[in-house]
Amino acid sequence: MKKLLIANWKMQLSHEEACTWLEKELPSVHETLSFTEHELVICPSFTELPYATSLFEHLVWGAQDCGAEEKGAYTGDVSVLSLKDLEVRYTLIGHSERRRYHGETNELVRKKATLLLKHHIHPVLCIGEAADQIPIRRSILQEQLESVLPAFTSDDLCIIAYEPVWSIGSGKVPSQEDLRIILELIRELLGDHKHLILYGGSVQEAQAKLFSPFVDGFLLGTSSLKSEELKKIILSC
Ligand code: PGA
Repeated sequence: MKKLLIANWKMQLSHEEACTWLEKELPSVHETLSFTEHELVICPSFTELPYATSLFEHLVWGAQDCGAEEKGAYTGDVSVLSLKDLEVRYTLIGHSERRRYHGETNELVRKKATLLLKHHIHPVLCIGEAADQIPIRRSILQEQLESVLPAFTSDDLCIIAYEPVWSIGSGKVPSQEDLRIILELIRELLGDHKHLILYGGSVQEAQAKLFSPFVDGFLLGTSSLKSEELKKIILSC
């Protein structure tokens, strides 16, 4: 089974910097990949997608978000129709930074999931509890999942990225045992839905090695821009 590795570049690079990364760093990262073992999905900013997808047609591209409507007067939003035109295959939805800084609700996230599925783009649903929600983790994950799952039919693949908010960019990660228990809970909540579960939050080579046997892949932030670290993570999966 291939490991799904999703690189979330967030808003870390300018257009020039991102293009330089794609030209200078990506070829060696690409050489590290085994196409039978890994699927690497890079999610740059929207502005880089047209360039990136034309430069490396053989790679898989993702978006960090999408608009909740197909078309219309939604200033600043980017339509799934544009993502589809660019052959984007995956799109993150419900990332904790979207929930926190843009007030995205589970209901909005469900609308995005429905639209993406309609246009045959895989939604990657990000869920996770904040530090002060650890004692009520079960109910948080349950609410995040149960409010979005109705968008998925039994034929759709649910890709879930479990990203504890307290772990993102902090260097803190759950223990292997805690993660095993949380994954069990997520699987239980997913019921009969076909699914893949990724882990995200401060993943470096050590965590990739430790968690890889339990997960279907990783959502990578900081490490995804450090090509040497990214190659080590790929080789650990
Ligand atoms: P991080 O980010 O790897 O820098 O913790 C992960 C994410 O937010 O997707």
